[in-house]
Amino acid sequence: MRHLVGIIGAGNVGATCAQRILERGLGDVALVDIAEGLAAGKALDLSEAAPLEGHEGRITGATTYDLIQGSRVVVVTAGLPRKPGMSRSDLLETNAKILQSIIPHVVSRAPGSIIIVVTNPLDAMTYLAFRLSGFPKERVIGMAGVLDSARLRTFVAERLHVSVKEVQALVLGGHGDSMVSLARYTTVSGVPITELLPPSEVEKLVQRTRNGGAEVVKLLKTGSAFYAPASSVADMVQAILKDEHRLLPACALLLGQYGLKDLFCGVPIRLGAEGVEEIVELSLTQEEKATLTASARGVRAEMDAVDSLLHATA
Ligand code: NAI
Ligand code: 2OP
Repeated sequence: MRHLVGIIGAGNVGATCAQRILERGLGDVALVDIAEGLAAGKALDLSEAAPLEGHEGRITGATTYDLIQGSRVVVVTAGLPRKPGMSRSDLLETNAKILQSIIPHVVSRAPGSIIIVVTNPLDAMTYLAFRLSGFPKERVIGMAGVLDSARLRTFVAERLHVSVKEVQALVLGGHGDSMVSLARYTTVSGVPITELLPPSEVEKLVQRTRNGGAEVVKLLKTGSAFYAPASSVADMVQAILKDEHRLLPACALLLGQYGLKDLFCGVPIRLGAEGVEEIVELSLTQEEKATLTASARGVRAEMDAVDSLLHATA
């Protein structure tokens, strides 16, 4: 039996996620978007690529949530993307309202699903999905760390002229300007980049990663990145559907780990069929800990803003 993946939002990220999931043969896809015809049109177009790409997955698209009935995973990508000059936080109020209109449908149609949130501001929207769904913490996860780490891997590979396949990286914290790139845990075939590059060069790569989303926004002018984000989501969907127990950085609920309590934040998790199987606690230096705490402070402020919105609409 093939698994079903529901994707809410058939825009750039949502449609590209659908494409990646189909082409990796992970399962069937149900695409939902509020814009009349958009999800149905993209689903039809993707299904007509099947004979050429050789994928067996079935894809449907509509404005109705009935399509996602029985989904194992639901990916939420609906919401506004950034425009040049905007921060991810500028999207909070608008995208919170969008999630408020979506999550109840996810709960009623796919009550046993694992929700992967993509919509920005990521950590706050993951918290909101957790609050609105009432799902256990293991089943509400945000995608950001895989993307930020992939960006750092790309920049390291370019700088050192090595294959991207040899580079691993770990970026934690909130998905914003205060994200935490752990250089000590960023390696080329197991060798930390701190052994291969002087501190000033490492800092340049870290800074470019922090600015990675904005760099794409500035070039595109009309929206934000979607190819690498979609591949990042596909990795997470795959880890769940294939029960891979992968260690990936993702936004999850912390209950004291890293000294952070009741906070959704990017940390290394073990991801498998049940969702978050474990929050992996790494030993951090004082400096790394301080940077993560500062990043968490920004996330806490956004979570407080979500609480105020929920309070106002209660
Ligand atoms: P987009 O504008 O291309 O697509 C968004 C889609 O959401 C549109 O098709 C729109 O019609 C749909 N939508 C809006 N309200 C809806 C509702 N109530 N129900 C169903 N669908 C609705 O935007 P894009 O580029 O796909 O980005 C989507 C979101 O993902 C943005 O908030 C963006 O900032 C975020 N993002 C987050 C990343 C991360 O690392 N977490 C990476 C890339 C994007
Ligand atoms: C990014 O980092 C928009 O958050 C998204 O590209």
